[in-house]
Amino acid sequence: MNNKSTIFVANWKMHMPFAHALQFCTDNSKELNAVSKQATIILCPSYEALCPVGIVLGNDTTINLGAQNCSAHIPGAYTGQVSAQSLAELGCRFCIIGHSEARTHLHETNTEIAQKMEQLLINGIIPIVCIGETEKEYKDGTTFTVLTEQLEMIFALASNPALRPPMLLIAYEPVWAIGSGSIPTREYLHKVYARLAQLCAEKLPHVDCKLLYGGSVNENTIAEIKPISEVDGYLIGGASLDFQKFKKIVSLGNK
Ligand code: 13P
Repeated sequence: MNNKSTIFVANWKMHMPFAHALQFCTDNSKELNAVSKQATIILCPSYEALCPVGIVLGNDTTINLGAQNCSAHIPGAYTGQVSAQSLAELGCRFCIIGHSEARTHLHETNTEIAQKMEQLLINGIIPIVCIGETEKEYKDGTTFTVLTEQLEMIFALASNPALRPPMLLIAYEPVWAIGSGSIPTREYLHKVYARLAQLCAEKLPHVDCKLLYGGSVNENTIAEIKPISEVDGYLIGGASLDFQKFKKIVSLGNK
């Protein structure tokens, strides 16, 4: 991965059933591989599709595979969970943790998310840590308190010399912007990213932190976000399910 290239993470969530995910990659593998020469592309299908998607994309691909979550535990008696070790063995270089949908539906706490991060780091996988405030927190003006709390244990782990990752991706996804079709104002984003960049520089001076934005990124909204200099890439949900849209986002958003 070129250190300077813009990062585009496609989070397919549970939208694409297995056969659909494989068809998507088979239909678009040539173009996907071409797009990945211009930017850093991370595809995050559901667990069951990770290995076959990797096979469809081929041995020479520069597309990165990412998982959408992982277990907080080492391999053991945890029915229904997937270990970071398995993800590493099947070729995942990245893994999303702390997504607001997992925080909401699976009641994941900051402590559990930090345990997941530890498992990822032990297994050499780069975490994509999602943070973001709810609509109520946004309206109450507590965004920075929430983000700081969500990052506290993440920073502590990443600064541990025994675990220190070569790179850490932090995705700011305001919960109220996800799937809504609208994004925060440029002024608001400027403030949030200036603060996040400052926090990373203070707390993790030895880690290459990349800041992503997620929440209604599409071919229309990307122009609003691109000028924010601290944004190194995007975490894209709905618009990543349509290859033509995804390709357009990459061409418009690439810095
Ligand atoms: P949308 O792009 O569909 O708003 O989803 C954002 C998201 O949750 C990516 O992780």
